[in-house]
Parts: sequence; structure tokens; C-alpha cells
Amino acid sequence: MAYECIHATTRGRVGLITLNRPKQMNALNPKLMQELGEAMYGFDADDGVGAIVITGNDKAFAAGADITVMKNYSYMDAFRSNYITRDWEHIRNVRKPVIAAVAGYALGGGNELAMMCDIVIAAENAKFGQPEINLGVSPGAGGTQRLARFASKAKAMDLCLTARMMDAAEAERAGIVSRVVPLDKLMDEAMAVADKIAGYSLPVVMMIKETVNRAYETTLSEGVHYERRIFHSMFSLDDQKEGMAAFVEKRKPDFKHR
Ligand code: CAA
Repeated sequence: MAYECIHATTRGRVGLITLNRPKQMNALNPKLMQELGEAMYGFDADDGVGAIVITGNDKAFAAGADITVMKNYSYMDAFRSNYITRDWEHIRNVRKPVIAAVAGYALGGGNELAMMCDIVIAAENAKFGQPEINLGVSPGAGGTQRLARFASKAKAMDLCLTARMMDAAEAERAGIVSRVVPLDKLMDEAMAVADKIAGYSLPVVMMIKETVNRAYETTLSEGVHYERRIFHSMFSLDDQKEGMAAFVEKRKPDFKHR
């Protein structure tokens, strides 16, 4: 499928999406976000895909929502068109794991996009921040909420109120990045992680993603209850029989994704 603002392709069982507005530091305009949603829904519906990677280029994952698009918006323009909600929220509906491979700037909506993904792998040159306060606005795609939950209140306040950037090492310590690798290893690492996940039983992978996400939506006892119910349901899977038989027979499992 040919897109204007992204590239989308498959490598084995991995769907790879590259944000492609390099001259604008991959600023996230409505067209890009609409195409990103389309590509992600396409991969989500494709039985041949088990995990999705989103990346940018060496300089920028994404430098935020496109400021030129919104600079003259009135309140009514933003409210009536349901700005952000209308074309960013689809990312949360994708049921397969999504890995953000981040090099360079992940600012504003770029950091928010990374935090909407399930795993964030960063190159050593990555920089994360919520500089919207410089523009006379607040973060608008979940930055205040996800930073406070995934990192801490102190980091959320610090980044959102001062506009300073965190480097990759600080972002990993803060908890929003799971691994930091040299820039020239970023894509190898991200694709290897995606490939590994895509080799497991797809329903199990999808249920684990759903269960971990419950942790951010509910109490501990309800979350553990939910996990237990999901765990019990897995004894109906062919892949559970195969996975456990393979362990006992000392061989590699051959998952059929059902
Ligand atoms: N929107 C539109 N254009 C952008 C952009 C953005 N968010 N970020 C960068 N660009 C454009 C620049 O205007 C510039 O365009 P021209 O060549 O036509 O002048 C081009 O990309 C290259 O950028 P710079 O020349 O500024 O490059 P730099 O290396 O000097 O600086 C940067 C890089 C630090 C990322 C800087 O561009 C910057 O601060 N960008 C804005 C970051 C920002 O404020 N993001 C938040 C946006 S609001 C938001 O995201 C709201 C939300 O929560 C959803």
C-alpha cells in the first residue's frame, strides 16, 4: 500500500511502519496520523503479522504534533473536529504488540506516540520531552497522564512544566524506555524483539498485552482477578497443549496461533 507520510512493509511476521516526513522532523499531521492508523489496523487484521514496529529516522522519531496545522485553530476548530481523539486514539485499539524504535527527538506528540506503544527501545541519541508549554499549551495526547503513570509524578511535572528533554539513559531509568542500544543497532534490536514476540502464540501474546494494560485501568485485586480468568482461559488453546508438550518432549514448540 502506498502512503504519503509513512512507509509500511512486512518483514517475516513483523509489520514495520516508518514515519516519513524527514524535512519536518516527522511532525505528526492529520494525514500522517490517519495513514498510521490505517496501516496499524491493516497489520492488526493480518494473520501473517504477529508484532508491529514503528520508527522514524536517525534525527527524529517525531518532533510532535504539526504546529503549522494547529497554530490558527480556534477552540471550536479543535473541539468540533475532535482534534487528536479523531486520529490518534486508534493506536490504543490495536491488539497486537507495538514496539517504538526511537532515535533522535521524541517530543510532545512524538513522546506521547512512543508512550502509546507497548515497548519503547531507544537509541543512545534519543531525546524525550513534553515541550508544549513553550507553545502556550499543555500536552494533548496523553502526555500528562502516561508520564505520571509510567514514570512518576515528579518526572511528569518536571518535563511538562519546564520543557526540558530527557536523554535515553534517563528515560530508561524513569521507566518509559525498556532498552537503550547504540544508534546503529536500533533497528536490528527492535526487529529482533518483534520477531521473537511474533514467534510466540498470537492469542497468548494478545492476551498478555491486554492483561498488562489492565494494570493501568483498575485496582490490583481486580487486575489479578482479570489475569487469573485470562490464565484459566488459555487452557482452551491448542498452543497451550503444544507449548507444554514441547517442553516435556524437550523440543521447540510449533505454535499454530489458536
Ligand atoms: N511541527 C511542525 N514543524 C516542525 C515541528 C513540529 N512539531 N518540529 C520541527 N518542525 C520543522 C521546523 O519548523 C523546521 O522546518 P523548516 O525547515 O521549514 O524551518 C524543520 O522541522 C526542522 O526543524 P528545526 O530547524 O527546528 O531543527 P532543529 O534541529 O534546530 O530543532 C527540534 C529540532 C528541537 C525538534 C525543534 O524543531 C523543535 O523544537 N520542534 C518543536 C517541538 C515541539 O514543540 N513539539 C510539540 C508540538 S505540540 C504537540 O505535540 C501537542 C500534543 O501534545 C499533541
